Amino acid sequence: MSERILVTSALPYANGPIHLGHLAGAYLPADLFVRFKRLQNKDIIHICGSDEHGVPITLAAEKRGVTPQDIVDQYHNENKQIFENVGIDFDYYGRTSSKAHYKTAQDFFLNLYDKGVFKRKEQEQLYDEEADMFLPDRYVKGTCPNCGYEEAYGDQCESCGTSLSPNELINPKSAITGNTPVTRKTEHFYLPLGDYQPELEKWLETRKNWKPNVMGQVKSWLNDGLSDRAMTRDLSWGVPVPVEGFEDKVMYVWFDAPIGYISATREWAAEQGQEDKWKEYWQNEDTELVHFIGKDNIVFHCIIFPTLLMLHGDYVMPENVPANEFLNLEGKKFSTSRGWAVWLDEFLEEFEADLLRYVLGTILPETKDADFSWKDFQGKVNSELADILGNFVHRTTSFTENYAGGTVPPLENPSEKDLEALEQIQVQKEKIAQSYDAYRLREAIAETMNLARIGNKYFTEMEPWRTRKEDMTICNNTLHVCLQLCAALSVLFDPVMPQKMEQLRKQLGINKKPAWKDVQRDMLPIGTQVDKGEILFHKIEDEIVEKQLNKLEQQSADTESADNYEPLKEEIQFGDFMKMDIRAGEIISAEEIKKADKLLKLTVNLGFETRTIVSGIAKHFKPKELAGQKVCVLANLAPKALMGVESNGMILMAEEDDGSLKFVETDSAPGSPVT
Ligand code: MF3
Ligand code: ZN
Repeated sequence: MSERILVTSALPYANGPIHLGHLAGAYLPADLFVRFKRLQNKDIIHICGSDEHGVPITLAAEKRGVTPQDIVDQYHNENKQIFENVGIDFDYYGRTSSKAHYKTAQDFFLNLYDKGVFKRKEQEQLYDEEADMFLPDRYVKGTCPNCGYEEAYGDQCESCGTSLSPNELINPKSAITGNTPVTRKTEHFYLPLGDYQPELEKWLETRKNWKPNVMGQVKSWLNDGLSDRAMTRDLSWGVPVPVEGFEDKVMYVWFDAPIGYISATREWAAEQGQEDKWKEYWQNEDTELVHFIGKDNIVFHCIIFPTLLMLHGDYVMPENVPANEFLNLEGKKFSTSRGWAVWLDEFLEEFEADLLRYVLGTILPETKDADFSWKDFQGKVNSELADILGNFVHRTTSFTENYAGGTVPPLENPSEKDLEALEQIQVQKEKIAQSYDAYRLREAIAETMNLARIGNKYFTEMEPWRTRKEDMTICNNTLHVCLQLCAALSVLFDPVMPQKMEQLRKQLGINKKPAWKDVQRDMLPIGTQVDKGEILFHKIEDEIVEKQLNKLEQQSADTESADNYEPLKEEIQFGDFMKMDIRAGEIISAEEIKKADKLLKLTVNLGFETRTIVSGIAKHFKPKELAGQKVCVLANLAPKALMGVESNGMILMAEEDDGSLKFVETDSAPGSPVT
């Protein structure tokens, strides 16, 4: 490994909160790796931020009736805070809606444009005439041509995983209006990936130590042959295309987002008053660039972005992309829309971050999909953290306090067993470092816990509760060895449980955080004051995890049923509501309107006057059954002509699940205000 490392974690979309699945995919592994390298005093920075463009964000905004900026502002800040709370220690957390990012992305685009990299292509694309816009990516839904799934998106079928383009969908529908789109011509810039495939393959051949799951996916893309990919979109939310005649188009989100890594590094440098410092990381050949991502991001980080970097030429290429598989939850896929998730902010209200970091760390989906279950979480906290590590530390420190005067005793005439145990510090330390260097983080954590296991076993075998009565020198030797093991653990476990290990170091009288190289068999000087302090890990009771399991079931049931209701409209102010004048009324008579099979012409008594109101209820009621019907009327609605009849107001109706309509009734005298 080189002396300078630039680590990035996939920029999460700022359209929802972070859950355990996200954490296990990219952020925790990256953080473990970075914290380890920092202990080794490597020059390393960890860059991340919010991915604030893309159709899921604009769709979420439309659904809620707010602007995309509102959505990304909310989740950018929330997610940034959550990462901090779970101890993910980014050097910089940027965002792709920043001005600096626009500039970096546009310069990048122009660089390639000037080199003639892009192909301009005119194409037929789906267009929603009512919404007056093109429908790229997820703006269209329809039937998957591959598997027949009816809810496939324009960019991908989530049922069979095939990546699609909107034109391939059978029976396409606009995600905004539900209308069947028409096609219109539009022009876009394409990246002809196929042209650069040989060059890309040559570079990929030099990537010898990539994980098999990553290289496997890459090879399969290459075998299929790379095709042209549109790098621009007809949307208004995104980084504007900096080319004349294309100003009203934006970059494809997967063009600008990875450039966000560069922009964020530049912002990080500027923040420190060293404007050019980012160049050391992005432009110095000695820097190793490492992208931590989940497996759904592989094609973008191993094929598309490297091609862009290669074509640009001024930046380093990724050294490694240690992508993870997926984490499931209680045997099922995480799903935000189905409420099948454990949200990090809620998790942290109940449990300490370090417990999660440890347990997730031991089940990271490094080589295949993994599963998080609450029972497992409880099991690992209780039988590993509490029973092994916590117990070992507690026995050691309380024995020292009670029988060795609370200081580190000397080692005198150590036995074979004492020396063997001490030896294990070096042995385990090397194993752990090798595992981290190979991105085998689960293994690194398991080997770290093994050192605690060794210590615990040694303590039991040495029976200090017996030797303290028979031969205090032997007892002191045991405590000396155990204290050295505890001290080693307080550093070796630091990447995984930074808070707990700081607490442990305090108990051991270690005031300054040691470096990796300081982990030695005599790390803790003889005579150091030791304090048994608070218990490090408490067991989790059955009720606690049962409560969490119930909560998950409940949340998923609630979300399923919430799906059956119309989403709430945008929030309004009291004043907006007060503008509406709703009055009690009574229908006097009703008649059909010629050629309008949905409409009825109603004569309504409002007390102070009688009005004509046209209402779209003809499919639900017969005219003659309406006389005498009590209603509520929006009485100050501007008049509007409908099929040649002027309508003066609106009758309030409730629409049920099955589409049937019911009157909103009131017994109040006609003309009474409804407020
Ligand atoms: N937002 C993407 C996702 O969540 C990841 C973007 S990574 C970047 O899948 F490289 F594009 F930034
Ligand atoms: Zn499909």
